[in-house]
Amino acid sequence: MPQQVMSKIKYDDIAGKYDVVDLVIPSKWRHRAASLTYGRVLEVGIGTGLNIPFYPNHCQEIIGIDVSAPMLGQAAERVPLRKVPVKLQAMDVQNLLLPAGSFDCVLATFVFCTVPDPFQGLRECHRVLKPGGNLVLLEHMGSENRQLRQVMNWLNPLTVRLLGDHINRDTVKLVAAAGFRTQIVENLFGDVVRLVVAGK
Ligand SMILES: C[S@@+](CC[C@H](N)C(=O)[O-])C[C@H]1O[C@@H](n2cnc3c(N)ncnc32)[C@H](O)[C@@H]1O
Repeated sequence: MPQQVMSKIKYDDIAGKYDVVDLVIPSKWRHRAASLTYGRVLEVGIGTGLNIPFYPNHCQEIIGIDVSAPMLGQAAERVPLRKVPVKLQAMDVQNLLLPAGSFDCVLATFVFCTVPDPFQGLRECHRVLKPGGNLVLLEHMGSENRQLRQVMNWLNPLTVRLLGDHINRDTVKLVAAAGFRTQIVENLFGDVVRLVVAGK
């Protein structure tokens, strides 16, 4: 079964229970990431909409996309929590059906660890951003510590198989390879969970 189909089915299956993961994600991380957005924002892999309550009021509009319709169904319940208009659409970040240069910011939290081709997804984010626009990522990734990285490499086939989750990706390098200028890389949990801000 193709990997994207595997991960879509998993999130479809767990959509109603997904929010328990939020118990291990400090809300200050979501708040920090969302507070860096402005103008017209694309949130990719919006999931159940856990970032919706944290968008600043000065954002003009949020377009939230995800491959999983059940995850979007859960997100729809959070839309009334903000005055900022939020529109949800089923879409694959690897093939965004959105015009080039149409967003001020793209936000993704814990998404590029699951996207089958993260480089292609990041290229698409770059395409839809306006010149001068910002990509904001909250992401877990492979550590630069050699021993920890070895453990992550060893565990990765298991996490991919069970959760569709890659734990050893070089996401900061991928962001640069996709054409972004990296502005902020902030370690939030060792160098495994990081906030990344990068400009087009
Ligand atoms: C770990 S969840 C994170 C959800 C949310 N961003 C959060 O912080 O709670 C990963 C999300 O990415 C979505 N996803 C995976 N592959 C995707 C793709 N190719 N395009 C769009 N969304 C995708 C999944 O359906 C899921 O909702």
